[in-house]
Amino acid sequence: MEKKTVILAIESSCDDTSAAVIVDGILRSNVIASQKVHEEFGGVVPELASRAHQQNILPVVDTALKRAGVEKTDLSAIAFTRGPGLLGSLLVGTSFAKGLALALGIPLIDVNHLQGHVLAHFVEPGEELIAATPSLQNAEIKHPSFPFLCLLVSGGNSQIVLVKAYSDMEIIGQTIDDAAGEAFDKCAKVLGLPYPGGPWIDKLAKEGDATKYPFAKPNIAGYDYSFSGLKTSFLYTLRDMMKAQGVETIDELAERIPNLKEDMCASIQATVVDVLMRKLKKAAQDLKVTQVAVAGGVSANSALRQAFIDYGKRYHWEVFIPPFSFTTDNAAMVCQAGYFKYLDKDFCAIDEVPFAKTTI
Ligand code: KG4
Repeated sequence: MEKKTVILAIESSCDDTSAAVIVDGILRSNVIASQKVHEEFGGVVPELASRAHQQNILPVVDTALKRAGVEKTDLSAIAFTRGPGLLGSLLVGTSFAKGLALALGIPLIDVNHLQGHVLAHFVEPGEELIAATPSLQNAEIKHPSFPFLCLLVSGGNSQIVLVKAYSDMEIIGQTIDDAAGEAFDKCAKVLGLPYPGGPWIDKLAKEGDATKYPFAKPNIAGYDYSFSGLKTSFLYTLRDMMKAQGVETIDELAERIPNLKEDMCASIQATVVDVLMRKLKKAAQDLKVTQVAVAGGVSANSALRQAFIDYGKRYHWEVFIPPFSFTTDNAAMVCQAGYFKYLDKDFCAIDEVPFAKTTI
């Protein structure tokens, strides 16, 4: 009987410890342990993240193998996220992957986290996994064809990527300062919302008026983005209102101005989405690309998802929006990237080291 191709992948770039298994191209498991320890600090604390990865990695990998119904000895190769990300976090996953690959005498595959986000669009979940994962049950699983554009938006990245092949990607535009998710998280923090603030902005925005607070939009050349001015504009709008009302805290202000938080959330969300989509539209028109995808944690945002559907209808794009479970950091996408590299026999050396900075 022919031996199956079984890939285990490990993702530990930020604050989610995740492991996934693909068997002959089909995703069998995707286990994610999110770290709650950062909530009280209003952001990821790198030192705590590394420690939590150390605690989580063994049970997460073990569960991923069990759910996939495979043994360690069945593995063909181990893929791991090499970067970009927090170095201490990456070291945990990298060292674990190296140790296991050495012990089993199987190849090691390094995966770029950003390429992983893009390749999340090619994940093929198996029937059992779909049955066990609510967010996959009504999801439309379809794969873009090359070339396509991918808007990659997360807590650490905002980029427009031209994807020419599985292994040939070019960043044609990116943020020159804050990422879109970072802007959402920082604005949410100013409003006193919990961390991470992106999902809270999305939630409150549903009850708000998006035209109430018009924020100045950045004017940046080409396909690049900038979100730091928007964040400052958000802060100054609140500061001016507090001064005018003679109050010292956001909560006091919210007592005086009905629907303040909801309207602020709806307004900032609409502005960020508009900025993201306009540049994407320009890139699609200039490059004459009609397959357009979104990836990364911020692609969970309901207004951004709706904007994709609307732009798709208006500009005749075929749009690709990943299921929720493949948007935030997860090992399924790393496993998919690793599977493609395995088929190309594109392995890495045991002395490969993680990298922190954004590249593709
Ligand atoms: O890709 P991701 O899980 O990892 C990092 O890059 O860290 O993205 C996390 C980001 C956070 O900034 C979070 O606030 C944002 O994605 N996010 C959202 C939503 N869900 C997650 N932003 C806006 N609306 C959402 N529904």
